[in-house]
Amino acid sequence: MKNLNNKVAAITGAASGIGRALALNLTDEGCHLAISDINEAGLQETADMVRSRRKNVRVTTHKVDTADREQVRRYAEEVMKAHGAVHIIINNAGVVIAETLEDLSYEDFEWLMGINLWGVVYGSKEFLPYLKQQDCAHIVNISSVNGIFTNPNNGPYCTAKFAVRGFTETLAQELADTNIKVSCVHPGGIKTNIAANARFYKASDESINKEDAAVLFTRAIAGTTADKAAKIIIAGIKKDKLRIMVGPDAYVMDWLKRLFPVGFQKLAGRKTAPRWMKKRAGIQS
Ligand SMILES: NC(=O)c1ccc[n+]([C@@H]2O[C@H](COP(=O)([O-])OP(=O)(O)OC[C@H]3O[C@@H](n4cnc5c(N)ncnc54)[C@H](O)[C@@H]3O)[C@@H](O)[C@H]2O)c1
Repeated sequence: MKNLNNKVAAITGAASGIGRALALNLTDEGCHLAISDINEAGLQETADMVRSRRKNVRVTTHKVDTADREQVRRYAEEVMKAHGAVHIIINNAGVVIAETLEDLSYEDFEWLMGINLWGVVYGSKEFLPYLKQQDCAHIVNISSVNGIFTNPNNGPYCTAKFAVRGFTETLAQELADTNIKVSCVHPGGIKTNIAANARFYKASDESINKEDAAVLFTRAIAGTTADKAAKIIIAGIKKDKLRIMVGPDAYVMDWLKRLFPVGFQKLAGRKTAPRWMKKRAGIQS
């Protein structure tokens, strides 16, 4: 989809981080927006930012829990009613849990899978009939580098992100030669609130508490801003890219995993955060 001007994009998880940055950057492209989240205050803030950025862009807000199939079905219906069309769905909402698979409750596991996997499935399937009505349309599903390799105490997230990749790549094959393009996005570390918002029980490095984990993430792991991530994703949509890698770290880790499939898993599986990382984050080792 080369030109996004006057198209309509629906974005889940748009109250913060990558979702908000996507809304702002799509505004610059002249794209109308139907943004959703469970966080109504944050969503309103995003809508206000969109309106003050560009007057002739239409933005509607929708309170949607992506883990709830009926709410996602209604969201698609509401978007059509409000905008008369929808060309792009970006299934972006996501959460994190830090815990071992052994100690994790089923309730927490199901909570994450509901948002990070089922939310993506519902968003893709419920919007599909409406996307088919357009000359050109696009489904964008946000996976992660954790859809390529895993790390400990991050099991539900890795499970969901690998599944998002499988779901999205299959969907792309099924929709090949149709008007609907499909992208699977693999961001590396992006500076957002995701770590601060995590359900945190224990990191793989047990010396790290929740506050330190959030600091470590923003200071030593997340090297790309949400704004830059959004620009890369939008460039990928415009080029109809099936696979969108976000950030230099994503490319490096993808290649390391290809070249050393077993060795890289071992490296990513270490249970103590590297000293240089803690030092950069200002955390005592
Ligand atoms: N930040 C990173 O380093 C990174 C890396 C790879 C992938 N991702 C993925 O990018 C996506 C966006 O994450 P982010 O980093 O911007 O995080 P964020 O925490 O800043 O934003 C996530 C948004 O999702 C919303 N959300 C949470 N539960 C929801 C639900 N049930 N229904 C609807 N919305 C809900 C939150 O309210 C929030 O606004 C996620 O899918 C995440 O897994 C992020």
